[in-house]
Amino acid sequence: MIVLGIESTCDETAISIVRNGNEILSNVIFSQTELHKKYGGVFPELACRKHLDTIFPVIDQAVNEAGISIKDVDLISVAKGPGLIGALIIGLNVAKTLSLCLNKPFIGVSHIEAHLYAPMMQFEHLPKFPCLGVVISGGHTNIVKINHLGEYQHISSTVDDAIGEAFDKAAKMLDLPYPGGPEIEKIAQLGDEKKYVFSRPFVKKSPMSFSFSGLKTQVFRTIEKLKKNGLNLETEKKHLAAGFQFAALSDIVYKTILAAEAADCTTIFLGGGVSNSSKLRELFAAYAPSTLKVVFPPKGLSLDNAAMIAGLGYHKYQFQKKSDLFSLYPSPKLPFSLQNSLCN
Ligand code: KG4
Ligand code: ZN
Repeated sequence: MIVLGIESTCDETAISIVRNGNEILSNVIFSQTELHKKYGGVFPELACRKHLDTIFPVIDQAVNEAGISIKDVDLISVAKGPGLIGALIIGLNVAKTLSLCLNKPFIGVSHIEAHLYAPMMQFEHLPKFPCLGVVISGGHTNIVKINHLGEYQHISSTVDDAIGEAFDKAAKMLDLPYPGGPEIEKIAQLGDEKKYVFSRPFVKKSPMSFSFSGLKTQVFRTIEKLKKNGLNLETEKKHLAAGFQFAALSDIVYKTILAAEAADCTTIFLGGGVSNSSKLRELFAAYAPSTLKVVFPPKGLSLDNAAMIAGLGYHKYQFQKKSDLFSLYPSPKLPFSLQNSLCN
């Protein structure tokens, strides 16, 4: 089965062609990062206009690169949420239009669930469940037990900022461009992570929950202090970035290991933009016990992409068959506490 995936939840217009859930024939991502850089974050109205401009050329490119004709597509899979409402409307309407014109079914999937499916795509078969799933992105920080694909048990999440959001905000304080995660990782390589030690966030009575707003405040206060003492922020930036990165990422590693023990899982799947961090891989390699198998997404599947949408759509179609043209609406706040979400 050939699936065309559509991802337009935020500031990437992405189209991918995937065969049978995991064979990626093309994976085209048009990133709007340059457009939003000067605003220090995503400007929703501009994001929508750019999706409109680019979505059809990106579809053409993905179909050409896959070496197929659009008529060979058997199913259209689209991210129905969570995300920016205007951006979701564009993706969904394109999916519905293609479905009508090609007379092929279409299906809506959760963007967050797709981030968890991304690391599984590198294997020929689905893993043996249960496994632990960790979503670390710009908008989400969740640990779940994956009983089966589509059946998730909530373990913990963030009580305030998402981890990627914390990276973006810390980067802003350090005058680094958006998106902040890769910029922090780049300059942190030159810094000493022990020069500024930030304490790992801690949530009272909930040892596996996350909280990144306090960590962000620690960085802010340290910067203020440095400025007050007349120190040159430019020379300290790399050390501050390294200290922040270490505290934030080691918190993910620590709580993931705790959750794997609590949920009795020996395989961990990580997904979402922050899983693109090489430092995170390094920390898991250093601190995770050898009995744990830690699986990151393959290249190109950590950040927002449509291959994960097409791949998950293939599996969801087996459960649900198809979505109804008139009843599938965008879900900007689609929660990830869903159980049996493949059936929703
Ligand atoms: O999954 P994603 O592409 O979009 C959302 O669904 O949110 O994640 C984007 C987030 C941004 O906050 C970005 O700063 C962060 O992922 N990110 C990173 C790295 N690369 C991207 N954070 C830390 N280190 C990185 N190398
Ligand atoms: Zn995402």
